[in-house]
Amino acid sequence: MRTLLTASPREAAKVIAAGGVVAFPTETVYGLGANVFNADAVARIFDAKQRPADNPLIAHVGTFEQINELASEIPSSAAKFIRAFFPGPLTIVLRRSDRVPLIATAGLDTIGVRMPRHPIARDFLKECGSPVVAPSANISGKPSPTTWEAVYEDLNGRIDCILQGDATEIGLESTVVDCTTPVPAVLRSGAVSLQELQSVVPGTEFSEIAPDGTPRSPGMKHRHYSPKAKVVIVDSPPIGTSESSAYIGIGDTGEFSHAISCADVDEYARQIFEFFRECDRRGTGTIYCQAVPEVGIGAAVMDRIRRAAAG
Ligand code: TXA
Ligand code: MG
Repeated sequence: MRTLLTASPREAAKVIAAGGVVAFPTETVYGLGANVFNADAVARIFDAKQRPADNPLIAHVGTFEQINELASEIPSSAAKFIRAFFPGPLTIVLRRSDRVPLIATAGLDTIGVRMPRHPIARDFLKECGSPVVAPSANISGKPSPTTWEAVYEDLNGRIDCILQGDATEIGLESTVVDCTTPVPAVLRSGAVSLQELQSVVPGTEFSEIAPDGTPRSPGMKHRHYSPKAKVVIVDSPPIGTSESSAYIGIGDTGEFSHAISCADVDEYARQIFEFFRECDRRGTGTIYCQAVPEVGIGAAVMDRIRRAAAG
């Protein structure tokens, strides 16, 4: 299959209308999209990414009306989050409407809904005219792509089109909050922090794990975000390291020749996944990642580097 590269949201939307799969930029990471109501097109996302069939997709909307096409009800907690954070890097889990094909939600009776704020994503979704389900546009298990080139590296020849944009602004995936329970529960940390959610709906909790011990977000049980290199979490740059190691952190990078010195935690979030990919291209053996305080987006950075270290 030839993968069309284009900077035109309209051209990319035509590919969606024809039943194709299209990678597109958002403010978090690049997504791999298909029309939510076209089950065959949705199936092609799972094929292209080699994604396990039990991992549900997030539906992206361009208008508030489209939320009603996807959800059977909007609880008051969800309405508050929508008002405060849409468009933006937040996904809310709602009860699914009967119109949504089961393949999109991996058989669940709920669906994740998000309205990206990225201007190209918004133009693209408006042109599509229907919600677009999209996981991150990487081969399953690899770090999410923050540039169109990273999408190309994983998926060229496996998807119909890449809508090209700049490197993504946030660099980590959206916060996922389940609004189907009496108390909203954060299933995945992201750019919208628990503290910000609590300021809109007091009592919102962090609850990745269900009472039976399994992750409440099916994707969280799969291997994730992992470079080939070994990932080690440290407080400061270690000394006496080898040629084939690398370091990312805030400020001082010690004696590493391959390192990124981030100005702050936002830059750390923006750089981490591309740094993992770059280390793999160079054949780096060990990547040292500096621990950061788990406040704001720091909680999401720590979540991703812990998963990478466990992978
Ligand atoms: O920022 C993002 O969220 C990006 C961009 C493209 O929007 N998308 C993304 O999708 O990260 P993905 O598929 O890589 O991660 C979606 C996560 C998975 O952990 C999945 O299990 C969870 O959200 N999820 C999706 N639908 C769900 C549902 N109905 N209930 C619980 N978890 C759900
Ligand atoms: Mg993903």
